[in-house]
Amino acid sequence: MEKQRSSFSGSIGFVLAAAGSAVGLGNIWRFPYLAAEGGGGLFLVIYIGLALTFGFTLLMSEVAIGRKTKNSCLTAYKHLNKNWGWLGGLAGIIPFLILPYYCVIGGWVMKYAMSFIIGQGVTAAGDDFFSDFITGNGEPIIYTVVFLLLTGFVVFRGVNKGIEAMSKILMPILFVLIIGISIYSLTIQGGKEYDDRTGMDGFLFYVIPSVDGMGIGEILKVIMSAMGQLFYSISVAMGIMVTYGSYFKDKDNLVRSVNHIEIFDTVVAFLAGVMIIPAVYVFLGPEGMSGGPGLMFVAMPKIFAQMGAAGTVLGIVFFVMVLFAALTSSISLLEAVVSGMIDKGVKKKKATLIESGIAIVIAVVVCLGYNVLYFEAPLPNGDTGQILDILDYLSNNILMPILAIGTCILIGWVLKPKTVIDEATKNGERFLRRHLYTVMVKFVAPVLLLILLLGSFGVY
Ligand code: PHE
Repeated sequence: MEKQRSSFSGSIGFVLAAAGSAVGLGNIWRFPYLAAEGGGGLFLVIYIGLALTFGFTLLMSEVAIGRKTKNSCLTAYKHLNKNWGWLGGLAGIIPFLILPYYCVIGGWVMKYAMSFIIGQGVTAAGDDFFSDFITGNGEPIIYTVVFLLLTGFVVFRGVNKGIEAMSKILMPILFVLIIGISIYSLTIQGGKEYDDRTGMDGFLFYVIPSVDGMGIGEILKVIMSAMGQLFYSISVAMGIMVTYGSYFKDKDNLVRSVNHIEIFDTVVAFLAGVMIIPAVYVFLGPEGMSGGPGLMFVAMPKIFAQMGAAGTVLGIVFFVMVLFAALTSSISLLEAVVSGMIDKGVKKKKATLIESGIAIVIAVVVCLGYNVLYFEAPLPNGDTGQILDILDYLSNNILMPILAIGTCILIGWVLKPKTVIDEATKNGERFLRRHLYTVMVKFVAPVLLLILLLGSFGVY
């Protein structure tokens, strides 16, 4: 007799866990600077349009695959069609590759949260603090291992007592904190150097569409950047949503839950911009927005340092919130891998211990990539990178689009969209966007993903 599969206790548990996965570093740190670079409101409008069509299609497909097969990512595809089992291999390897380096970044966030908590926020704002820390000996490894052990602990406790319970606590807190900092950010008046700027000006800079000096080429670039961000943000093509879908009860409403996950993810991303962009605008000016990835670890501490006492409190709240967001995402990565091992016959606790151990070893190597193993490898997009960047590029830019294209072809052409539509409406639920879904999964999504993939190979 097969052992009964774990399941979320209801759709709220599922939505919060899935939103916990979706809301991560991407929402808080990547979305705001991409929006600022992509013409503010222009980016926002394109992003929301894509979320309602492209994002919805991918998310719907994965959750339905999981629930229909009641299998984790590793074996679900094989159950749908035995010639397409290789997609499962790909879906299993992606979270395996991402987990270690995601935990390294989680460790960095933890270091910043600690620095603010122990009253060293001003030190953390120092020019070389970030680079000194990540290239240091030992400390990044310790934080990474602690972060990974925390992740392992939650997964070890199981779907209900671990992931669901954790998400039900952390996600509402995260939401309240982000609203709180956003409101504060809107009320900021003049920084030291830019005393005539207000938080409200920054907000307008964020939401008003600007197409100044943009030709059709630039607008297409914004579309591609919004699509890449959306794809990453909703945690599709990482095996996660298939795995979480397999814990989703047959009687719960799948269409509505998918909508809720998307709304949650998009609202948090938008609020992250409301929180960060006005602060950057007031203290560093519009130029500060081009900080790119350094924005979170370099620019934010500098801004908090300039705010005096309020900055210390805000710094703690901010980094603790980012820590929660990162933790619920890393949990979903580990769960996806562990769940695959369980479907192959390994016991849950043993699988968690084995995979956490492997991830620790790889994560240590990733940390050493900034230290004794330092090198600069060229990436197809013209940048150079260390071990972390290579793992990131391989998983995000190459393997994930391939998996997503494969999933669209499998659902759209081999099994037909009806498979997913039937799964989603098996209790008579309404599925208003079913025609849109069909066109998206067969034609539009695979073409967009192919363009994204070609970009990753440096074709354009
Ligand atoms: N969706 C997450 C984000 O927006 C990214 C992520 C989730 C990455 C889970 C890995 C695992 O940040």
